[in-house]
Amino acid sequence: MKKLSILIVDDSYDMLEVLRRQLNALRYATFQASTVSDAMDMLKNARIDLLITDMRMPGLDGMHLVKYTKAHFPDIPILVITGFPSVSGAVEAVKSGAMDYLSKPFTARELEAAVEQILRQRYGKAALPGKKEETQAEAVHYHGIIGESAAMQELIDLIERVKDTKVTTLIQGESGTGKELVARAIHYSGKYHNAPFVPVNCGAIPEDLLESELFGFVKGAFTGAQETRSGFFQAADGGTIFLDEIGNASPAVQTRLLRVIQEKEVKKIGSNEVQKVDLRIVAATNSDLQAQVKQGRFREDLFYRLNVIGIQTPPLRDRREDIPMLTHHFLDKFAQEFSRPRPAIAPEAMQALKTHAWPGNIRELENVVQRALIMSDGRIGLQHLPGYFHSPSSEALPDDAALLPLQEVERRHIEKVLQAVEGNKTAAARILGINRKTLRRKLQQSGPDEPE
Ligand SMILES: Nc1ncnc2c1ncn2[C@@H]1O[C@H](COP(=O)(O)OP(=O)(O)OP(=O)(O)O)[C@@H](O)[C@H]1O
Ligand SMILES: [Mg+2]
Repeated sequence: MKKLSILIVDDSYDMLEVLRRQLNALRYATFQASTVSDAMDMLKNARIDLLITDMRMPGLDGMHLVKYTKAHFPDIPILVITGFPSVSGAVEAVKSGAMDYLSKPFTARELEAAVEQILRQRYGKAALPGKKEETQAEAVHYHGIIGESAAMQELIDLIERVKDTKVTTLIQGESGTGKELVARAIHYSGKYHNAPFVPVNCGAIPEDLLESELFGFVKGAFTGAQETRSGFFQAADGGTIFLDEIGNASPAVQTRLLRVIQEKEVKKIGSNEVQKVDLRIVAATNSDLQAQVKQGRFREDLFYRLNVIGIQTPPLRDRREDIPMLTHHFLDKFAQEFSRPRPAIAPEAMQALKTHAWPGNIRELENVVQRALIMSDGRIGLQHLPGYFHSPSSEALPDDAALLPLQEVERRHIEKVLQAVEGNKTAAARILGINRKTLRRKLQQSGPDEPE
């Protein structure tokens, strides 16, 4: 099958190079242009299946290119890349015909997901490049969500229930547990997937700008409002607005949100004209919103309006059975990305991954696997994992261990590791960073039930 070709436009050569490599690793053919006029030439002369363009470029900017493409090559889908100062530029771009946008910085995975979604939508699944080998992980992923544990099954069932509705949903979970992934899955698996998905990071946009970014403003509404602008809500009409880190919304924003949810209408700042909007709100937070309600920092009525459907993303330590599958998935992904053969992983390294506490959840696992791949040659061993995996650490200990004698802490820790490796002393010694003899001695000291 012919490869799909993607035209990448960015004035930074570094960025072009990064994008080119990532897209080639995903088996797309690429064309690059560092100016909008070069890009226009290429559109005329080459067969392009997708345009990816930066917004801010000297001379003619990305918006110009979006409009040009829409006018002359309406069949070519467009993905826009923006840095923070131009978030509202992204809204304009989406309104002018871009299908999705990525804000910098984004990960290779986010790029992959955005590109795949657009191409699948436009050309059908069959047009997408096949994965090199079907791995176990790929067999069970649901819109990028990997995991077979009961907790993940429950999560996927819930997504299935809400995806075709416009019911307001609140996703709560620790950092790195996949809240954004779930929000995207809800949108892209449901019947409104052809409408826009508009993510807004309420924590990253300065408080005094958030209101105008969300709802838009009319000319003269405040100093600096030189023209009338739409906000994210208007841009998401018909689709989904994803309000990430909702716990950071100011009281003013909270009040306006309540109004949108209740009345299904928005008002631009400085205007009395109401605009009807028909969209789904998905909000997410890793802070304890109930606690914020109790402290009077988050409106209780808004909390209940958002939490019509509550989705919890489980921490990784509560679904350890998914760790091998996730590990293999990330190994495949990074091996492809770095164009390296996929390394094997030693059983004791896998054991260590399975027993780690994972305070940073899946994002932490992703980073650890990436690092291990870079550090290793062909086989990942314990030594390729960060130091805290092979030296005794306090991190894995329960809080109540803080006031115990050292020997007792050590005994408990050894027991825990032994349990995790199902009594395999060689593996336990390796995880603990001591030799078997030392381990045997320590076990003899701590209890009479050691036969050897
Ligand atoms: N079940 C999963 N399967 C595969 N990848 C996952 C899964 N959950 C999360 N990830 C990956 O882990 C990373 C973190 O996920 P995501 O950004 O969705 O987390 P989050 O809950 O929004 O975190 P934060 O609160 O820090 O914003 C992403 O790269 C995501 O693709
Ligand atoms: Mg997030």
